[in-house]
Amino acid sequence: MTTPTRSAPTYIDGIYAPVDDELAVGDLAVEGELPAELRGMFVQNSPNPRLRPEGAYHWFDGDGMVHGVAIGDGRAGYHNRWVRTEAFAQEEAAGRPLWRGILEPMREDRLEKDTANTDLVWHGGRLLALWWLGGVPYELATPSLQTVGPIDFGGTLRGGVASHPKVDPVTGELIFFDFDVQRAPYLRVGVASPDGRVTHATEIDIPGPRLFHDIAITERHTILLDLPMTWDAERLAAGKRRVRFERDTPSRFGILPRHGAGGDVRWFEAPACYIYHTINAWEETTASGGTAIVMTGCRIDDPIPRTPPDAEPTTPRLAFLRLEPYLTRWRFDLETGAVTEERLDDVPTEFPRTNDDRLGRPTRWGYAPRIAAEPTLLFDGVLKYDLDDGRATRHVWGEERFGSEVVFVARPGAADEDDGWLLSLVLDRAADRSELVVLDARDLAAAPLARVRLPRRVPVGFHAHWVPGSGLA
Ligand SMILES: [Fe+2]
Repeated sequence: MTTPTRSAPTYIDGIYAPVDDELAVGDLAVEGELPAELRGMFVQNSPNPRLRPEGAYHWFDGDGMVHGVAIGDGRAGYHNRWVRTEAFAQEEAAGRPLWRGILEPMREDRLEKDTANTDLVWHGGRLLALWWLGGVPYELATPSLQTVGPIDFGGTLRGGVASHPKVDPVTGELIFFDFDVQRAPYLRVGVASPDGRVTHATEIDIPGPRLFHDIAITERHTILLDLPMTWDAERLAAGKRRVRFERDTPSRFGILPRHGAGGDVRWFEAPACYIYHTINAWEETTASGGTAIVMTGCRIDDPIPRTPPDAEPTTPRLAFLRLEPYLTRWRFDLETGAVTEERLDDVPTEFPRTNDDRLGRPTRWGYAPRIAAEPTLLFDGVLKYDLDDGRATRHVWGEERFGSEVVFVARPGAADEDDGWLLSLVLDRAADRSELVVLDARDLAAAPLARVRLPRRVPVGFHAHWVPGSGLA
């Protein structure tokens, strides 16, 4: 009897296959009715290699391509463009790949390719594309999605900006972080003003290199996630990327006053875990009149299988990052130092979002795509969580249909937190086609309000965002 082995997933074919053209198409067919008050642009960043990769390809490697659906007056239009990064321009000029992916041995002359392929944020009237390893932010025009160019916040940015910065909806500040896997400082945190200048930056003393991915904010604090997903220093020195999950090392959660120095961080410990994404955090007054920080996110107990499902022991473990995340709530008591951690649901979900107009303040509702029973990261529906108790309602996309990260858009002037719409790209595998689906966020069980047919398949991608405004469609 032989034990079946599973190879590392490939991300270059099928529903992941890159598209090779850039379109601008107006007046898309709409089934149902787009809400008249819905004005703006849904945008999603996706890895989409411009050139056929040399060597092993990982989903994280591809050049950034942003797909957008601009909506206004009940009409919709589609745009997609590559993010023209410095590396993209160099490879286009050379006509061949100059970098290799993260599964290949590192090259001293060309470390990692900054693709800006991961995240998008709308800040100070600018749409920025960002990279998971922390790189140069690139500004994109709307609705064309053409790359305006790299930005350095008027010369005030030192270092880069990693994916998942947060915009304070009241002050308009951008709270961001950046990290380094080879040398200290391993983590930096900064704040940029709404007019696009870095007003505060500090270095955080971390014991070693980590795979950082997200932060959370409250009205006054930034929550840092020093989790025991570390880079193997010996292997890094030997030119090999390998992440390691140290199961006996506690997770550390750092509470930093938003404009505080690195030495002001207050650390809280909890059992080892990994967290790709938080939903929200806020401050609460405790029974004794003190302050506690509440944070929700998707917690992974064991992000790397103990035995990678592959017969080849030299395969980098980045190929096998495992996603079994569950909605979890942490509570950090700033007076007593006590930490509580509570799993709220047993359904695996990821890419969670809330009403970003209330980020950093108490929110009752979270929206999280449900992970399908597939070997790779596909979402077969979306759950609307009551963050108080983990109860959920759901919308399932349908057979052979897979959603993206959902974006919540508040109805203009809405009083209730969940009065608005949920938007998701949905890919129909059988039809090899995508659409943008608009749901009523107060009634997930209902049929979609609108389904906007896109002129093409959008490859399975990463993070989505909403750009508010009229005149985009
Ligand atoms: Fe992410």
